[in-house]
Amino acid sequence: TSAFPIISQEEVTTHRSLEHGVWVTYKGGVYDITEFVAMHPGGDKILLAAGGALEPFWALYAVHNQEHVLEMLSEYKVGEL
Ligand code: HEM
Repeated sequence: TSAFPIISQEEVTTHRSLEHGVWVTYKGGVYDITEFVAMHPGGDKILLAAGGALEPFWALYAVHNQEHVLEMLSEYKVGEL
């Protein structure tokens, strides 16, 4: 059993701006990255994934395929799909 609540894709989709919060999904996890957006080394590009899946973007920007990036992401987990 997971310690995280189940969150619907529809709910994730409503969080795609700094005003309403920026949520993304990755491998079934849901992440509230609102606070991280300003710290992102790749700048505002991160907002392209807002409200949806990271996978298509991280497939293009392989710099994310590193342990330290996944550890960073894990700190923002709020739920599971
Ligand atoms: C770089 C994290 C989403 C584009 C990075 C780096 C981190 C990071 C830690 C630096 C990696 C390194 O140099 O070791 C994240 C996290 C994301 C996210 C936690 C989501 C929660 C995205 C998205 C895009 C993107 C969605 C594109 C649409 C880039 C680019 C760089 C970068 C272009 C390279 C910046 C440079 O070195 O000039 N990201 N990223 N990122 N990210 Fe992201």
